[in-house]
Amino acid sequence: MLNLDWGNLPFGYVKTNCNIRAYYREGKWSDIEVFTDDKIDMHIAATCLHYGQECFEGMKAYRGKDGKIRLFRWEENAKRLNVSADRILVPQLPLELFKKALFTVIEKNHEFVPPFGTGASMYIRPLLIGTGAQVGINPASEYTLIFFVTPVGPYFKCGFAPVDVLIERNTDRAAPQGTGNVKVGGNYAASVKASIEARKENFSSLMYLDAKEKKYIDECGPANFFAIKDKTYITPASPSILPSITNNSLIELAKDLGLKVERRKIEVSELDNFEEVGQCGTAAVISPIKRIVDKEKNKEYTFCKDGNVGVYSTKLYNLLTGIQFGEVVDTHNWITILEV
Ligand code: PLP
Ligand code: COI
Repeated sequence: MLNLDWGNLPFGYVKTNCNIRAYYREGKWSDIEVFTDDKIDMHIAATCLHYGQECFEGMKAYRGKDGKIRLFRWEENAKRLNVSADRILVPQLPLELFKKALFTVIEKNHEFVPPFGTGASMYIRPLLIGTGAQVGINPASEYTLIFFVTPVGPYFKCGFAPVDVLIERNTDRAAPQGTGNVKVGGNYAASVKASIEARKENFSSLMYLDAKEKKYIDECGPANFFAIKDKTYITPASPSILPSITNNSLIELAKDLGLKVERRKIEVSELDNFEEVGQCGTAAVISPIKRIVDKEKNKEYTFCKDGNVGVYSTKLYNLLTGIQFGEVVDTHNWITILEV
């Protein structure tokens, strides 16, 4: 067993045994290769460096009490990577190649999947980048696929405890017909300045509104937004948010709990009426929100008034993480067990 402080891991990079790479050249993908070096050598005119021709995914591997390694809905990440790739003219990645890279990177780094009970998991980052040279704005003719892994603790340091969120009215991360619905680096570049400013004031993240009218809730920095009201799970419908696999799963779990589900436009003013609110995503899991501050409107919305996380957020968290760590029966067939 590795000597890592599993219970106190940050959400950060730890060097592991190896990463996996494949190359797209002359219209074809190569087989995967294993690299122990975590640096890459690339052309100074690579399109990922200049024109943001890069897309990525974020997924996790979980170790159960039985010691087995579990993946959660990995095919959904493979599909979404191809949707992102298509949006920025990156070639499609065959499902079999995604699977081989994914399973190999976990097998070769299996001792970095944290032990059960530590709350930690292994974060997997598939990355697809234009590495061919271009100076004019054109797609590259060569691409590199990289899968790296790192053991991580909770994205928000406090884990499953309520956080504060700041409504961002001065910056947009995505436009209605822009790239907010795909996972490309440019979306994060557009939001990093405002989110670091917010963190200095102890806000866990920013809440973005629809860029056109600034009337509806879009999503939080690294996660989708959901609310509970009158036994209903409510989450935004918007062309500029990332279709979160966690959120889609919570929708199914909410139905299992007998909740109604509404995916619709949510006006900011509705925050006054919600009983529970939270952020959800692979990294964030469920991060309950206790305060949402709208500085420009001089308004604050507060939740978890008794100091406790809401009943349905807690139930959803326990169900989701229970399935991921193998403690709850996987009735939806979301889990793939890796024989390592
Ligand atoms: N929204 C954004 C902007 C994200 O970066 C993420 C993380 O991937 C999510 C939402 C949550 O998506 P998922 O649940 O698929 O991880
Ligand atoms: C994830 O939840 O997987 C993310 O990619 C969010 C963030 C770390 C970018």
